[in-house]
Amino acid sequence: MAFPSALTVAGSDSGGGAGIQADLKVFTVLGVYGASVVTAVTAQNTLGVHAVEVLSPALVRAQLDAVLADLDLQAVKTGMLGTPAVVQEVARALRDRRLPLVVDPVMIAKGGHALLDPAAKVAVVRHLLPLALVVTPNLHEAGAITGLAITSMEDMERAARRLGELGPAWVVVKGGHLEGDAADLVWDGHTAAILRARRVDTRHTHGTGCSFAAAITAFLARQDPVPRAIRRAKAFITRAIEHAPGLGSGHGPTNPMYWLGRECPEHLEEEEEHGPGPGCRPTAP
Ligand SMILES: Nc1ncnc2c1ncn2[C@@H]1O[C@H](COP(=O)(O)OP(=O)(O)OP(=O)(O)O)[C@@H](O)[C@H]1O
Ligand SMILES: [Mg+2]
Repeated sequence: MAFPSALTVAGSDSGGGAGIQADLKVFTVLGVYGASVVTAVTAQNTLGVHAVEVLSPALVRAQLDAVLADLDLQAVKTGMLGTPAVVQEVARALRDRRLPLVVDPVMIAKGGHALLDPAAKVAVVRHLLPLALVVTPNLHEAGAITGLAITSMEDMERAARRLGELGPAWVVVKGGHLEGDAADLVWDGHTAAILRARRVDTRHTHGTGCSFAAAITAFLARQDPVPRAIRRAKAFITRAIEHAPGLGSGHGPTNPMYWLGRECPEHLEEEEEHGPGPGCRPTAP
């Protein structure tokens, strides 16, 4: 098989904790070659988003065409897309490729800055969700797309069902913004399962959503079936948050590098269930 390779289509975070930068770090530590199509440039740090400029649809298209014409990819992730025209370019480029697609429907940065214009939300629903294998909205995004108010696990399931009807085979409604455990709801079109992890008491959660979706994408590129890719990504993000390096004076980044040289996916899942054990080296891709 070709060396596992994945593409992220997302915005640049100058602070390095989210967006393209987070995705490439996650791909790398998980043994996956990462290509990137930049949709927007943000001037950002751990304190917030200070400026945003979305690239022209033509330049996004040129990047997509260049990457897709040449590289053998096993999975694709989309994050911040910005405008309806960019959403349409991305959908157009991916429509006939049948690559496993993880759509992280990024709308608002943690500090409240809008990252998707309202018309683009409609374009994501119409053009991108039908192509998605997995969609990973947070509570706010699941609410904005479905029109439901989401404050409980029951609401999360209701929203996941509606999202599933829009095209994606798998829906992960992330409960990072609820109280209590960090519990995400996974919907496969028939049944709901809850992925629960202890909530890490920290302000350093910049880029958790990007890193989680990137980890799902990386495990898919490594040929994991979807449920295993999601479970492993959940274990990965919990560890990355726990070991946040405490950078910056606001909401600092997580630590995907924690993975390096320490653990293999199998071990990480075991540890989630049975508590810490001895580390092991990452499995070869
Ligand atoms: N404090 C925490 N402790 C443990 N897990 C967390 C914590 N915060 C979020 N998570 C988990 O991280 C993943 C990302 O969820 P979150 O709801 O933060 O996404 P998001 O809002 O899209 O993030 P971002 O603002 O980076 O886009 C989910 O699996 C969620 O349960
Ligand atoms: Mg997010």
